[in-house]
Amino acid sequence: MRIAIVGAGNVGTTLGGGWAKAGHQVVYGVRNPTDAGVARRVASTGAAARTATVADAVAGSEVVLVATPWTATQEALASAGSLADRIVLDCTNPLKPDLTGLSLGQTTSGGEQVAGWAPGARVVKIFNTTGFNNMANPRYPEGAATMFYCGDDAGAKQVAAALASDLGFDPVDAGPLTSARLLEPLAMLWISLAIRGQGREIAFRLMRR
Ligand SMILES: NC(=O)c1ccc[n+]([C@@H]2O[C@H](COP(=O)([O-])OP(=O)(O)OC[C@H]3O[C@@H](n4cnc5c(N)ncnc54)[C@H](OP(=O)(O)O)[C@@H]3O)[C@@H](O)[C@H]2O)c1
Repeated sequence: MRIAIVGAGNVGTTLGGGWAKAGHQVVYGVRNPTDAGVARRVASTGAAARTATVADAVAGSEVVLVATPWTATQEALASAGSLADRIVLDCTNPLKPDLTGLSLGQTTSGGEQVAGWAPGARVVKIFNTTGFNNMANPRYPEGAATMFYCGDDAGAKQVAAALASDLGFDPVDAGPLTSARLLEPLAMLWISLAIRGQGREIAFRLMRR
């Protein structure tokens, strides 16, 4: 698939590298495509990786991953142009700056806010409940880490699940986009466990019998 990644940071470049390896075409939408540091970081994710403005990257894409800090997300989406009918994967978490909690939740979520900032987009909340180290390698002795996702568009969710499978995750449908109200606190639990002594080499796995 043609994937535009908005935000070439930890999450963006890790997912972009994995998808490039799986045969997808990845372009990074960045604020300054001629910045040498960004170009170097992006080049390390695959021979064909390239940067463009956010609007240009999005224009040629089938899927858009939003991988910006929460506080920059509204601005980044505004710089993307129209996202109507496009599949938008939202991996952001509306974290407080000191990581002590979420800045919103319970009666709404970051995922729903993203849908409001990208009218008509087919938004899927995904890749927010685990660290980027697990996005590089989701395989554990017990099996694949679970990747929960939610959204209101069945076709977009199918694409999102396939992109999670391509990286080695076990994708699990968590329901409509309002379930982002559950997935964002789950991300906070992962962060809290990692900070409080478990470290980053931990992941959630849904067990079944
Ligand atoms: N880190 C994790 O393990 C993890 C896991 C799950 C979810 N998340 C979520 O994923 C998101 C990204 O996290 P991260 O760790 O990848 O952050 P990061 O390393 O700080 O990268 C964020 C990227 O966003 C770019 N950016 C900022 N404003 C932008 C704008 N207006 N337009 C385009 N790009 C913009 C930054 O570019 P510049 O270089 O130009 O500043 C930077 O490359 C966050 O919402 C975070 O909560 C993170």
